[in-house]
Amino acid sequence: MSVANQTALEAITVSRVYTRRDGSIIQALSEVDIAIEEGEFVCIVGPSGCGKSTLLQLCAGLDHPTKGSIRTHGVPISGPGPDRGVVFQKDSVFPWMSVLDNVEYGLRCRGVPAAERRAAALHYLARVGLAEVADAWPRELSGGMLKRVAIASVFANGSDVLLLDEPFGALDYVTRHKIHDVLLELWNEVDRAKRTVLFVTHDVNEALTLADRILVMRGGKVVDNIRVEHGRPRDDETLAEPSMIAIKRTLLEHLGIGHASHALENAQ
Ligand SMILES: Nc1ncnc2c1ncn2[C@@H]1O[C@H](COP(=O)(O)OP(=O)(O)OP(=O)(O)O)[C@@H](O)[C@H]1O
Ligand SMILES: [Mg+2]
Repeated sequence: MSVANQTALEAITVSRVYTRRDGSIIQALSEVDIAIEEGEFVCIVGPSGCGKSTLLQLCAGLDHPTKGSIRTHGVPISGPGPDRGVVFQKDSVFPWMSVLDNVEYGLRCRGVPAAERRAAALHYLARVGLAEVADAWPRELSGGMLKRVAIASVFANGSDVLLLDEPFGALDYVTRHKIHDVLLELWNEVDRAKRTVLFVTHDVNEALTLADRILVMRGGKVVDNIRVEHGRPRDDETLAEPSMIAIKRTLLEHLGIGHASHALENAQ
């Protein structure tokens, strides 16, 4: 654990400007300031195109700010690193590698001996309930199983900071609930310090189920910062409690569909 700086991830007045093919200028991020403490589970919510993935890409070191800086434990991020694990919005597994090889991949890149990395990969595959398909090809797995492979991979890799970009967006309700449980269980592992998670979603229920804190983005800016005090585990009944409904109403209003939250409350 870092003694020098407990802030696992920090964006300091970060802007990112893109130039599209037609020459138009896009201000994807505009003077964003965030600070995420070690062990925090933070969700980012916001409408399509507000800059969520851009911010995650910058934190991953896959892209660089036009202005400002991104730091981990006080050190500027200059590129990808094993301290940060990423699950992308789109597919996050290599189709030409077996499930087990996928989960081992990060450790192999870091030169971890074969027996050790195999044991870690098998451990995390078992934790996500996929031990029996370790030797399968990704194409033989369902969408939900593939997402579990991606989650096993980032945990096996041992990164302290996990950057997850709408990882479960395409999953059905039941599968998504199950994978939330798996994710929170792994995050809460008793034998090690909690990982820091930055999780992008546009699903307000997902954010309310998972987060310690929810950052709301709009038009390239962070416009709200909401702490979710409710303990875990949280289920559909938790989400129907007044304190959670109040947060949900705020989030839906930020997303421009505030009337939906009133209808929802009236239906209780
Ligand atoms: N490489 C790029 N070149 C040009 N414009 C880009 C690039 N990447 C992102 N943008 C633009 O930046 C803005 C923010 O995109 P971003 O992918 O961060 O949005 P998002 O909040 O993740 O949206 P979604 O919820 O749809 O995934 C959009 O207008 C997008 O078109
Ligand atoms: Mg995105």
